[in-house]
Amino acid sequence: MTIRARGLPLALVGITFRAARPEDLPGCGAIWRDSINDYLGRLNRPEIPDELGPIGRLHTHTQATDPDRFVVAVVPGEGGKRILAFGSAVERGRIWFLSMLFVRPEAQGQGLGRAILERLLPAPTFDGVLATAIDSLQPISTALYARYGIVPRMPIIDLRGEVDRPDAFADLPDGVVAIPFESIADGPPASPGHRALAEQVDALDRELLGAEHPQDHRFLRTEHRRGFLYRGAGGAVLGYGYAGEVGRIGPIAVRDAALLEPVAGHLIATVPSRGARAIWVPGAAPGLMPTLLAAGLRIDEFPLLVCWDRPFADFSRYVPISPGLL
Ligand SMILES: CC(C)(COP(=O)(O)OP(=O)(O)OC[C@H]1O[C@@H](n2cnc3c(N)ncnc32)[C@H](O)[C@@H]1OP(=O)(O)O)[C@@H](O)C(=O)NCCC(=O)NCCS
Repeated sequence: MTIRARGLPLALVGITFRAARPEDLPGCGAIWRDSINDYLGRLNRPEIPDELGPIGRLHTHTQATDPDRFVVAVVPGEGGKRILAFGSAVERGRIWFLSMLFVRPEAQGQGLGRAILERLLPAPTFDGVLATAIDSLQPISTALYARYGIVPRMPIIDLRGEVDRPDAFADLPDGVVAIPFESIADGPPASPGHRALAEQVDALDRELLGAEHPQDHRFLRTEHRRGFLYRGAGGAVLGYGYAGEVGRIGPIAVRDAALLEPVAGHLIATVPSRGARAIWVPGAAPGLMPTLLAAGLRIDEFPLLVCWDRPFADFSRYVPISPGLL
């Protein structure tokens, strides 16, 4: 679809919107980096590292699961069409989540972000939750999403660093055992072990996040994050947690909020890391941040804000995957 001139800024005339193709994704990664660096530069903050591997893998995942909800805006340019902006949303059950919306710096503030958002939003008959995560210092995105009722509700803070005081974490309570996912689901993908694990994990996600998202759990495994299921003395499923070999902790889902810190401690103690640890800590989980700080992690960046139009997840018991994928 091409924007018509009438009633729209002249700057947008000739821009075409279409579903992204896999070959567009490296260009989207570059827009993500350039627009964030432009924003950080204006705040006198250091640029993000020039490493597009993780964001590229996230884009590949969301484009594969939600191809109609990954949209690029292209404009004719030298040597072919040039991508000016892109946006990506995922639907998981009753949750619509805006994963990405980025416009090249020189094209911002002219209605392009809104035009893409309009193409990503569900039909007006949609009866679920609209949610996203934003930079806390970014008024444009805050205002843009708030116009659709998606308003900032909760900070999430990226805590990072070396754990030099592991005894800051309480041990798992007596009788609670951590079972590696691979020892439950050790057969082929359709085996009973896989099905049993998937059912338990999906039930936790429905209860704590508000929707199951098995496709994202498959993605986590391709990202080499190791998963553990936590069971109580009687065998009851109490939660799950992941940690990756490059240091990322999460997601974590626990039925009892008091388990969040011991589970984080267990993951850190059990899964070796090649790099610094990092975890997105929800403001609604008040016990987790003091413990992680006491263990040695630090705050380097401004908080992000999770926004939604109606309540859905229980973030006192759920640590998300990232700001781009709940
Ligand atoms: C955020 C971003 C995607 C928005 O896209 P955009 O094309 O620049 O935005 P648009 O021009 O479509 O819309 C901006 C809206 O915010 C409003 N706005 C801008 N600054 C505002 C402010 N300080 N207070 C209130 N509203 C404001 C504009 O008036 C406009 O609303 P309107 O259409 O009702 O007039 C884009 O600016 C961007 O990529 N920024 C850099 C990267 C980034 O920070 N991304 C978001 C991370 S959360």
